[in-house]
Amino acid sequence: MNRGVFLKTDIIKFGENQKENKIKLERIADTLKDGGLVVFPTETVYGLGGNGLDKNACKKIYEAKGRPSDNPLILHIAEIKQLKELVEEIPEVAKKCMDRFWPGPLTIIFKRSKLVPNEATGGLDTVAIRMPSNEIAHEILKEVYLPIAAPSANLSGRPSPTETKHVVKDLKGRVDIIVDGGHSVVGIESTVLDVTVDPPMILRPGKITLEDLRKIDKNINIDSATIDAKSGEIPKSPGQKYKHYAPKAPAICFGGGLDKIIIEIKKNIKENKGKKIAVLASSESYDEYKNEGVDLLINLGSREHLEEVATNLFSALRKCDEEEVDIIFAEGYEFRGMGLSIMNRLLKACGGKVVMRIWGVKWK
Ligand code: TXA
Ligand code: MG
Repeated sequence: MNRGVFLKTDIIKFGENQKENKIKLERIADTLKDGGLVVFPTETVYGLGGNGLDKNACKKIYEAKGRPSDNPLILHIAEIKQLKELVEEIPEVAKKCMDRFWPGPLTIIFKRSKLVPNEATGGLDTVAIRMPSNEIAHEILKEVYLPIAAPSANLSGRPSPTETKHVVKDLKGRVDIIVDGGHSVVGIESTVLDVTVDPPMILRPGKITLEDLRKIDKNINIDSATIDAKSGEIPKSPGQKYKHYAPKAPAICFGGGLDKIIIEIKKNIKENKGKKIAVLASSESYDEYKNEGVDLLINLGSREHLEEVATNLFSALRKCDEEEVDIIFAEGYEFRGMGLSIMNRLLKACGGKVVMRIWGVKWK
């Protein structure tokens, strides 16, 4: 951890004045070039950025986040031209995915070149690369013109930040600059696709879904560990390995048809009378819980538009912490499309405290 180091963190926001914006941009780029740390918005979540070719900057990222140094970082680039020197080869399938989804919320894992330091990849011989579509991220990456290593800008184990206030809470005093870019649009981290294996594998589901990627190459598959469920099996107790996204209160996720979920959650609300209860509902079910004595009732969005649910998920988990609730009941979603990506995060948020009352949804 950053023991004894307390940085004066500046918060920078871009405005209407282009001249001032340019000065701000140059300051951000200089900070990164000098080995400093800058949190910047991306379309997925905020990233904690440092020069990905500078091993000391990479080390500082791990320290600021309190992250184990064997968990590799993603390098962020502004232009395809930057990719060549970072990787050993660009497989055909990667080219097609880049054509279709870059800039955007897709991270691709390549064999790395010698230029990329061990400190960025946790010693792996592969490197994760992504080209964000967020305009501020793009401007910063273009200005600095270096691959910027950036994990999600949360303290290790906490939900990824989708608003500046989340970043301030976790990282103020630990980074040089925080760039305020409003609420992240996608709200969950990028899809991670490994093209160094055959067939290519999704290691983390995101907005770009398995279904989207199979339109590029029908052989692309998804690592079943991403939801800890094999071919529709009921996920067992996730146990210790899930330390991500954890809200402070125990969270329980309920699956199955929405009618059953509502009945189960209402039953659990009754059983937990006296506790401060949060319910993560959807637009379709929100009204059902209104008169049930729920202390914090959050509408994540419509089941017909799972993008909404994804956008609001991490903010909701953090809200549960702010409100210091005792227990969280979350509705589950289908294990396909964006639903799979949402469930990947939700199950981790419930890690170690998950009680799956009703499952039966095939995810393949
Ligand atoms: O949307 C995102 O990807 C955000 C924004 C800031 O770009 N970044 C992000 O970074 O989520 P991070 O470090 O929190 O998550 C990166 C994930 C980790 O699960 C890491 O293990 C995996 O990508 N990863 C990175 N490099 C890898 C590699 N070479 N092989 C396998 N997995 C890798
Ligand atoms: Mg992360």
